[in-house]
Amino acid sequence: MFFLLKYIRYIILTATILLALLLYFFSIGQYTNLSALYAELGQDYALLAVALIYFSLIITPIYFVFPKLPFKPIAIKSRRALGVSAFIFALMHALLEFFKVFGGFGNIKYLNSSYLLSFLLGLIALVVLAAMTATSLNYAVKKMGKYWKILHRFIYLAGFLVVFHVYLIGSDFVKFFDLGTIAYTLALMFLLFLESIRLNFWLVRKYPTLKPKIIFSILTVLIILFVVSLYFLKVN
Ligand code: HEM
Repeated sequence: MFFLLKYIRYIILTATILLALLLYFFSIGQYTNLSALYAELGQDYALLAVALIYFSLIITPIYFVFPKLPFKPIAIKSRRALGVSAFIFALMHALLEFFKVFGGFGNIKYLNSSYLLSFLLGLIALVVLAAMTATSLNYAVKKMGKYWKILHRFIYLAGFLVVFHVYLIGSDFVKFFDLGTIAYTLALMFLLFLESIRLNFWLVRKYPTLKPKIIFSILTVLIILFVVSLYFLKVN
């Protein structure tokens, strides 16, 4: 336990690099066609990046709602490394998709508006992840003081933009009864649900005259409507 707590960040980063290499060499063995190889790898790295952002985002609300869950100190300590790993996979995904699959800057003029918007959202999310990675060392935390927390709250923006990026162009998220799409949407709803409980708690503490149950119900309905509408927007 003490070993895990001390080295969790190194373990996550080493596992990230090993997994990226493993996927690369495994895919090389599977595909003889280079375009197919890059497209598959680009998607695999993208899915891993999204999963890592998801884990880094869910740690705080899940321990808030279920404080008795085990491994809390390890999970809290691992958040920064999860963000850095997400950036590594997202960067590899973006480079492969943009330069190898899409064909680079020369092809931008052929992009339709939904692809253009999706690329832009992906790019902003990538810049946010890069800024967080660049300031992820303890030295930066000390130097930046309160601004570090403010900057690192932008992970919520990155997560939000990636949701739209994926719904706009992710080819693995197009079928109505596809297990991946349903799992992705349910996972997103679960995260939003936990965050709404946290927000509800904060609102009630700040504005004690508000009725907690009413706020909670409204928030939950809004969130469910939001996610379901995104889901139908994509699959129909
Ligand atoms: C400049 C930045 C980016 C570019 C140019 C880009 C490009 C693309 C493209 C072309 C696709 C469609 C691939 C396909 O499904 O066939 C895609 C899908 C996707 N992107 Fe990005 N992306 C960028 C940033 C990001 C970031 C920062 C993330 C997450 C952290 C991300 C996560 C995803 C995911 C999860 C998919 C769906 C993959 C699938 O359907 O299997 N992208 N991206």
